[in-house]
Formats: sequence, C-alpha cells, structure tokens
Amino acid sequence: MTMKMKQQMMNKLGLLVVAVAVAVAMAPAGSFASSSGRGAPMVPAVIVFGDSIVDPGNNNNLKTQIKANHAPYGMDFANSEPTGRYSNGLIPTDFIVQGLNVKQLMPPYLGVELSPEDLKTGVSFASGATGYDPLTPVIVSVITLDQQIEYFHEYRKRLVGVVGEEETARIIDGALFVVCAGTDDIANTYFTTPFRSVEYDIPSYVDLLVSGAAKLLDQVAALGARRIGFVGLPPIGCVPSQRTLGGGPHRRCEEKRNYAAKLFNSRMEEVIAAKTNPATTRMVYVDIYTILQELVENGDKYGFTETTRGCCGTGTIEVTGLCDARFVDICDNVSNHVFFDSYHPTQRAYKIIVDYIFDNYLQFLLA
Ligand SMILES: *[C@@H]1O[C@H](CO)[C@@H](O)[C@H](O)[C@H]1NC(C)=O
Repeated sequence: MTMKMKQQMMNKLGLLVVAVAVAVAMAPAGSFASSSGRGAPMVPAVIVFGDSIVDPGNNNNLKTQIKANHAPYGMDFANSEPTGRYSNGLIPTDFIVQGLNVKQLMPPYLGVELSPEDLKTGVSFASGATGYDPLTPVIVSVITLDQQIEYFHEYRKRLVGVVGEEETARIIDGALFVVCAGTDDIANTYFTTPFRSVEYDIPSYVDLLVSGAAKLLDQVAALGARRIGFVGLPPIGCVPSQRTLGGGPHRRCEEKRNYAAKLFNSRMEEVIAAKTNPATTRMVYVDIYTILQELVENGDKYGFTETTRGCCGTGTIEVTGLCDARFVDICDNVSNHVFFDSYHPTQRAYKIIVDYIFDNYLQFLLA
C-alpha cells in the first residue's frame, strides 16, 4: 500500500467516525431504551415456554446430555460463543424480539445474570428436549413444562422486586407469550424409545400430546397472559436424523412422523379456536409446517443447496453431544444448509421462518 493510499484510507475512516458520531448525537433521546433502536417496542416483553427450538441455554447447567454449549454451536454468534442455542447463530426467539423492537437477544432464565432490563423485557424458560408428554423430559433429565411454569412464578417475583406490582401486571398484560414444543415427543419418545409405542398408536399418542399442550395453554393463560402464540409442529419426518432413522436407504421424509405432526397440528388448531377469547386471552395457532416443508422441498428458491443433511459432521445423525467440533468436521458453507445439525435449522433458515411468521401472524398476535 502506498503512502497516498494509506492517507486516503485514513481520511475515509475519519469521515466514517464523524458520520457515526453525528448519527449517535442525532438519535432521539430514549432510542436506546429499546436496544434495537429501530422504533418503539411493539410489546413490553416476550415470555417463552418450550424446547430446543426456543432454548437459549437453559440446559447448560443441567445434568443432561442435551446441550449445545460447545462448538460448533454458536459458530456464527458474536465471538463464536456457544451459548447453548441449538444452531450456528440466532434462534427464532432472538429474531422475534428483534422484529418486535424489544431487544437484540432473548436471554435464558437460568445460568446467566439477568439485568433489570432483561427481566422487564422477558426471558425464555425453554429447555431442549422437553415436551408435552410428561415422560419426554424425564427420559433425558431436562426441564418439564410444569417446572417452566414454576420458574415463571419465581421470575414474576423478581420482576415485582425491580418494578413493583403495578408495572409487573402491566408488562405481563402486554407481553407476547410463545409456546413451542412437541417435536421431541414424537421424534424421541414415540419413535425412538419403546415406552409409549407399545401402548399407544399414533392417534392415541397425539391425543396425549394434545391434552398436555391444552393444559399448558390453560396454565399460561392463568399466569395473566393475554396474547399467546402457539407454534405447531414442523414436518418431523423430514429433519435429517429422522430421514436417517426411518426414511430408508434413500433417506426420504418419513411419513409416519409427518402424519403424527399434521394430526397434532390440526387437533391443536381446533383446541385453540375453541379456547381463544379476545376479551381475555387471545391464542393464535402458528403454522411452521408449511414453510419448513417449502424450504426442504424447494430449497434452491431460497439459496439452500443442501436440504436433507445438517452442516455438522455427516449431517445424518449428529446432534447435541455428537455434534462436537472436537470430533466431527463442519460443512464448508452453512448458509446453503437448511439444517445446522441433524435436527435443528440454521440461523438463515430460522430467519426465513420467523419472517414468514411475522408476515402471516403478527397482525393476529398483536391485535
Ligand atoms: C454460501 O451459500 C450462500 C447461500 O446459498 C451463497 O449466497 C454464498 O455465495 C455461498 N458462499 C460461498 C463461499 O460459496
């Protein structure tokens, strides 16, 4: 680099610094209250119950194998930090709080120091590998949904300690609650262990899950939730590990798992239609089956060249403990993969899914 080029670059850098300084100085007072800085928060807080799709690290200090706090998880997170999120970067609840101008990241309730601001804007109680079937979390020693409700009561007390009872009631009243679980019940408990499949056929097992999910919705409503987004099941038979386990030599989508997911979804749509009450608690069924199936079937339209294998290892079976950078290789380009490990989507796929949710459901959730 010549002296002249260096000088030009320094001048440009100087201009950039000035421009940033001006932008900061001109930002209206209070714009840092919502750390996204892109306008007023659309809800005061987001509160999350569920499984690994929405778990930002609550399992990290549990005695369980189901954790994602090691590389390559988090390889595209700030500082490549493996926070416990089950992806290469952000997970859906991070994109949800960003999209609602609430904050940049959805923190876990457990294992981190929560600032007053964190408490005021909501936390996630979700635990990877939990489910609506009470047996599901027990098999893998993770947090039950009942325990997540208990943690909410503890959280609420802490929030009262920070902002008082009246403001706490206002925050809960305005908050968006998200419920997302059920894939582990079908993929793990029903199709991988013998504990349920000997007693239940698919429709009767789905009945058990529907009653568990309906009970959870009642419990969340009883917390004072006035807006609940209930996330349905994805095409479980099309995730890489389930193709490997049930999809035959060509690793096709496994139809029984997809049938179970679709049956659960249609039953929950009915349950929610019957339970929702705009005067007390508005509940919205959020379909993610269609968009994930679309990404898997027509990946090329979205820039995905690999839709049946995860980015981690062979992509056919590695998840949590088996997806470990010490033992397996990582794909060359995570951005062209729908799945990061053999079970969980990549950050880029999650972003597309959340954009779809915002486009199709936000008006109903915030009405
Ligand atoms: C990685 O994949 C993305 C998405 O398909 C694509 O836009 C990008 O060019 C790829 N990067 C490389 C280095 O091939």
